[in-house]
Amino acid sequence: MNIEIMTLFPEMVMNGVNTSITGRAIKNGLLSVNATNIRDFSLSKHGQVDDYPYGGGAGMVMQPEPIDRCYQSIRERLGYDENGYKDGKRLPCIYMSPQGRTFTQSVAKELANKEDIVILCGHYEGVDQRILDMIVTDEISIGDYVLTGGELAAMVITDAVSRLVPGVLNNDDSAVYESFHSGLLEYPQYTRPAEYKGVKVPEVILSGDHKKVEEWRYIESLKRTKEKRPDLLKNREENDNAWEGSIKY
Ligand code: ADE
Repeated sequence: MNIEIMTLFPEMVMNGVNTSITGRAIKNGLLSVNATNIRDFSLSKHGQVDDYPYGGGAGMVMQPEPIDRCYQSIRERLGYDENGYKDGKRLPCIYMSPQGRTFTQSVAKELANKEDIVILCGHYEGVDQRILDMIVTDEISIGDYVLTGGELAAMVITDAVSRLVPGVLNNDDSAVYESFHSGLLEYPQYTRPAEYKGVKVPEVILSGDHKKVEEWRYIESLKRTKEKRPDLLKNREENDNAWEGSIKY
C-alpha cells in the first residue's frame, strides 16, 4: 500500500510515520509513505502558496495552483491518467477537514484495500474551493475539533490504515481481536509479575486452559463495551466473531 501526503510540513509527517510500527513497515517494504511539499510546486519567486481571501475576512487561503501541480505530479508518477484513473480505478484523494465524514475503524478498513491513497493537508484558513472540487474524492475528519492543519489527521489515518495491511503487525491475530475489530473493546491485559502490590492477576488467565482464557476475554470485552461504549454494541457486526453461538450471555 502506498500513501502520498501533500503538505507544507513534510518533515513533520515523515518524522512521525518513520517511527515505531509504521517505520518498520516502511523499512520492510510493506508500506510506502511519501510526503510532498506543496511549496515546491509554487511558481512564485518566494514560494508563495497562500493569499488573502476574496471577499475579505481573517487569515489566508491556500491557492489552487501549487496544490494542483503537486497533485498532478503525484498522479503521473503513480501512472494514473489525466482523469485520475488506472485500470478502471479512481485515485483516491482525501482532503483532511473537520467538515468531512468521521474517521472510524470501518473507514480505515475501506482505505486499507486501496493500492494508492493521496491525502491533502490544508492549512491557514482553508483551501481554494475550486481545487477541492477538481481533485478531492473524499473528505475525512478525525473528530469534532479543529486542528491547525491536516498533518496530524493524515498521520492518524496513515497509522490506523497501515496496521491493517497484512504483515505490518507481527502477530496477525492482534489486528483481528483488538479494540473495534469485532466491534468490542479490548479485554484487560496482564503481564508478569502474577502479583503486584498485593493485586493478583485473574486466576483463569494463569490456568493454561486456552478455551477458558478466550471465553473469559470475550466476556470481559462484552462487559467493558457495555460499560464504556454501549453505543458500539448496537452497531456491532455480528459475523466476524468466532465466539458467536458458543457462549450465552
Ligand atoms: N484539519 C483541521 N481539523 C481537522 C480535523 N478535526 N480532522 C481532519 N482534518 C482537520
